[in-house]
Amino acid sequence: MKGKLDAAGFTTSVQTFQTPHGSSSDVIAELPGTAPEHVVMFGSHLDSVEAGPGINDNGSGSAGVLQTALSYAASGEKPTNTVRFAFWGAEEQGLYGSSHYVDSLSSSDKAAIGAYLNVDMIASPNPGYFVYDDNPAGTGVRDSLTAHYDEVGIPWEYTDPQGRSDHAAFIDAGIPTGGIYSGGEETKSQEQADRWGGQAGAEFDACYHRSCDGIDNIDTDALDKNTDAIGAMVWSYAGKDLGTVNAPAA
Ligand code: PHE
Ligand code: ZN
Ligand code: ZN
Repeated sequence: MKGKLDAAGFTTSVQTFQTPHGSSSDVIAELPGTAPEHVVMFGSHLDSVEAGPGINDNGSGSAGVLQTALSYAASGEKPTNTVRFAFWGAEEQGLYGSSHYVDSLSSSDKAAIGAYLNVDMIASPNPGYFVYDDNPAGTGVRDSLTAHYDEVGIPWEYTDPQGRSDHAAFIDAGIPTGGIYSGGEETKSQEQADRWGGQAGAEFDACYHRSCDGIDNIDTDALDKNTDAIGAMVWSYAGKDLGTVNAPAA
């Protein structure tokens, strides 16, 4: 992963940390903006649970973020804001990688981050299209995501992940956050099946945290649509006035 990001022109670092279960690492890659005191971040966790390979959770999110990073670099765009991608370690053991990262930042480093978008499970085999609605600091990132899904004609619902992923440390630091999710062990209702297709009465991801979360446990259409959503956010947030992200509607 670091090799691909380095080759694409990113400034990349591997930050190793300790957990009660052993050591792990985050991979952080950025393209400097012309206004480097303004940073926008996108992240996904790279680890899986021990029970299985974690292809939907969270190979899907990591693939979506990595491909978007590589495509953005290849486009030759020159961002105004520094665009920074994070691939977190040890999420499943207790959000260790993202917590370590945020804890390691100075207060000015934290103040520079205008938004963080989290990508954890985006290709569930019986997919839904959920947008996080759990940021007490404001609704800016959430509203950008729902506007994108509206624009491309994908029905969406809010979800409240209750801080159960890597955006939690950013919320605690007062940073505007948002995220996307295609569903886990919850059951898809009839109404949701009418909205999105797929199977009512079945889990969004029946292999959530199980050994069967393997290479076939992916809906490639959801992966494609959600990776496009990440792309839309990267392209738009790279040039956005981050002071307006959580501004109240005019
Ligand atoms: N973070 C949880 C996991 O990795 C799943 C999850 C994703 C929860 C998105 C809430 C929102 O297992
Ligand atoms: Zn998980
Ligand atoms: Zn996960």
